[in-house]
Amino acid sequence: MKISVIGAGNVGASVAEYIAMKELAPEVVLLDIKEGFAEGKAMDLNQCATLNGFNTHVTGTTNDYSKTAGSSVVVITSGIPRKPGMTREELIGTNAGIVKSVTANVLEHSPEAIIVVISNPMDTMTYLSAKTSGLPKNRIIGMGGILDSARFKYRLSEAMNCNPNDLQGTVIGGHGDTTMIPLTRHASYQSTPVSDHLSAEELENVSAATMVGGATLTKLLGTSAWYAPGAAGAALVEAIVRDQKKVMPCSVYLEGEYGQSDICMGVPVVIGKNGWERIVDYKLNDEEQAKFNKSAEAVRNMNNALEL
Ligand code: LAC
Repeated sequence: MKISVIGAGNVGASVAEYIAMKELAPEVVLLDIKEGFAEGKAMDLNQCATLNGFNTHVTGTTNDYSKTAGSSVVVITSGIPRKPGMTREELIGTNAGIVKSVTANVLEHSPEAIIVVISNPMDTMTYLSAKTSGLPKNRIIGMGGILDSARFKYRLSEAMNCNPNDLQGTVIGGHGDTTMIPLTRHASYQSTPVSDHLSAEELENVSAATMVGGATLTKLLGTSAWYAPGAAGAALVEAIVRDQKKVMPCSVYLEGEYGQSDICMGVPVVIGKNGWERIVDYKLNDEEQAKFNKSAEAVRNMNNALEL
């Protein structure tokens, strides 16, 4: 089995690193357009094998998609990242062209692959892949909500001074600073609602900090974050290749679920060997549904900028 990661920048290299560390496949292929770059990252990662005790081989290649042939999962991270002050949405023009051609190249060599899209603006890039690839909808999965949910739990754990692993929390909607929806009503601390432990104002602050999680890091780092995006991408790949049937919020093509159609947006889905297998209905209340609809409107406006 082979897993490919397209784009050897910070996020792509980090996804590949976590995949290798978890030994999710005997081979990971890292591809980049920059001459020698993926080869260098691959060599560096392979030199970690004896230090970190893994036996996954990382192959680097400069734009040779034949090396990715027969991949069961392909993670697309290609495109330009955010700079401080930029929204994910501002990347659309450049990244749409890149993601469209990458998807076509990938499928030429791995027609059976499940595609994971991380490139931003992620929901629109996922929609682009879904519309242009002709793949069954279950094999196209946008990764954003897993990352946003991890950031939500981090913020909750800070506010509650507790172990983040005792928390459950889900972020749905678009993967954008103003479009994501941290579901505070559904979040829990070992089966107790987080509202038992935090005031409404504290929960509001946690939500606000979660929503600008990516922008906060971009400002500090001068570019997009990569550890948590990489770990979130690898967690999704793990759920697929190990057929875990885990519920993860991912951007998927909706056909009436959550009141929306012909759009890719973050909703809780069951992830297994067939990609996303089922949408889980969280039974949103009116306020949450209104937020979801508003988020859909923003994502749809962005999708309209695509030339499909
Ligand atoms: C972030 C980018 C990867 O949220 O979307 O950090």
